[in-house]
Amino acid sequence: MTPHNHAKEGDYAEAVLLPGDPLRAKWIAETFFENPKLVNSVRNCLGYTGTWKGKPVSVQASGMGQPSLSIYVHELINVYGAKTLIRVGTCGGLNAKVKVRDVILAQAASTDSAIVKGRFGAFNFAPIADFGLLRSAADKADAKGLKFHAGNMLSSDIFYHADGFAGYDKLPDHGVIGVEMEAAALYTLAARFGVKALTICTMTDCLITHEEISADARQTSLKDMVELALDVAVEA
Ligand code: HPA
Repeated sequence: MTPHNHAKEGDYAEAVLLPGDPLRAKWIAETFFENPKLVNSVRNCLGYTGTWKGKPVSVQASGMGQPSLSIYVHELINVYGAKTLIRVGTCGGLNAKVKVRDVILAQAASTDSAIVKGRFGAFNFAPIADFGLLRSAADKADAKGLKFHAGNMLSSDIFYHADGFAGYDKLPDHGVIGVEMEAAALYTLAARFGVKALTICTMTDCLITHEEISADARQTSLKDMVELALDVAVEA
């Protein structure tokens, strides 16, 4: 039990999916898990444990942004023994080659967040995905025929940037292909505590073309992405 989570030790599997949205956590558990059990509902930030293809797996909503994700992930690792953490989310597109509905595997995560920057003094730490999870996700996405891009994600603390696309400055010119709000903190915590992490996002809105995903396509794309993440998670 923690102030943010009333689950007991042993209530979570070692592999945990991390959507931002609590209702997406509920949807993942109820749609994909065999025998889903609610393990946390503090602040309605829902967490469930069940099995996928017979193997134990959990899902815990992270909330939005790096401060919120950091609380849940810190506790999942240090109180509940999580060893494999896979964020499943949506992101904005920063490169015209990435089309709406494409999947981005965040190989690395750049950030403007003080949570990461503040820890390393004179150094710029490079938050990276676990290579085994990344390779597994890429192989499985290929096998499923899912279009994906592996590359550098921006985890920003700002959703409504005052300068829009221009606010991302030189990042798109240096190969940063998407923007979301959580991956860099996830990767930094995983590195600190010696566990594995990956972020998989569906690109839902392109900041260059302003194309947005339709409601129908959003649901199908999320389903493909969640199945991919679950396959990777239970094999890790
Ligand atoms: N920023 C911009 N666009 C987005 C994001 C984000 O964090 N997430 C989904 N679309």
